[in-house]
Amino acid sequence: MSSIALPAQNEQSSFIRPLNVLRDLSAVADLVELCFASTMDSEGRSYLRQMRNAGHDNSFLRWADQMAESTSLPLSGLVWEQNNKIIGNTSLVPFRYQGKKIYLIANVATHPDHRRLGIARELTQRALQMARQKKADSIWLHVRADNPGAIQLYSDLGFVEQMRRTTYHAKPDPLLSTPQTDLAIKKPTLRDWQDQHAWLERLHPQEFAWYRNWNWKAFEPGILAWLYRLFTDVEVEQWSVFKGNELQAVLTWMPANRSDALWLATNPQAAASAIELLLVNARKTLTRRHSFTIEHPENDVSDQIIAAGFTPQRTLIWMQAKGATS
Ligand SMILES: CC(C)(COP(=O)(O)OP(=O)(O)OC[C@H]1O[C@@H](n2cnc3c(N)ncnc32)[C@H](O)[C@@H]1OP(=O)(O)O)[C@@H](O)C(=O)NCCC(=O)NCCS
Repeated sequence: MSSIALPAQNEQSSFIRPLNVLRDLSAVADLVELCFASTMDSEGRSYLRQMRNAGHDNSFLRWADQMAESTSLPLSGLVWEQNNKIIGNTSLVPFRYQGKKIYLIANVATHPDHRRLGIARELTQRALQMARQKKADSIWLHVRADNPGAIQLYSDLGFVEQMRRTTYHAKPDPLLSTPQTDLAIKKPTLRDWQDQHAWLERLHPQEFAWYRNWNWKAFEPGILAWLYRLFTDVEVEQWSVFKGNELQAVLTWMPANRSDALWLATNPQAAASAIELLLVNARKTLTRRHSFTIEHPENDVSDQIIAAGFTPQRTLIWMQAKGATS
């Protein structure tokens, strides 16, 4: 791999170059760990473990070097090297969705001893250029809402906020008391699906599906969807909540390795405590599970999610580069 023309710093041996998968992964994992230590969750730690393991696996590395353009792994990107040490990093992660090429800029990090020198700005700008050279249809990144310095950096580079999504966590609790309401929980029927589907689409917009790969087929009622779940080995359980005859919301539970996913599809006019009731019911019923995660638009029914005992872990702002198309 060749290095890009550069030094933007005074030191002679300070330069940006493309990530070299064959030798940089461990050093990048160290830098990412150092820079994100205060906000890293179990998902982040597992990601770093994978990066480190990959860095020691020669056959993987040889494969990865060839595959950087066709996997959604952080195998392509840029590092800032100074005196033989990596002090800055940015990854460029490719996605393909419905024939479109989408790039996610991730892992933007500068060593704490070298901050406010323009390193992250330069790395992000170069990553944008790289993505455009690769004929990106769109370029995205996400940043925590409590990281104003990074938000400023990305806004100045032309990234525009598109959505905010909050991740909540809770553990099962068989001893929870059910809120007293005039609402009734039932198993969803074929009749509920049309509303549930429309609400899911509203809360989990298509423009974001390239990243999450939402699979509503697995949520559908009926024999065909049941067969689909059987053959794809997907398990779901769902509950609807009604006020009289009116559907208020549907909750879907899907088991996962680290933390099970809960999906809320909510009527925009849902009665107060409909969501709380559904979530408390899930926490009381699914007692053998380890924990639950909800990923939902910021501020949408957040009071009810929190009232059901879920704790907000983080809010991510998703930003898209303006004029990203090649
Ligand atoms: C965020 C981070 C990557 C910035 O790296 P950096 O090399 O210091 O950033 P730069 O010097 O290129 O800063 C460019 C601009 O971003 C903004 N900025 C960066 N850090 C900032 C801070 N701590 N406070 C306020 N503004 C900040 C400023 O507008 C800055 O321009 P200025 O210095 O002319 O005012 C670095 O602080 C870091 O690694 N943080 C931990 C990991 C992280 O949060 N990464 C971003 C994840 S989305």
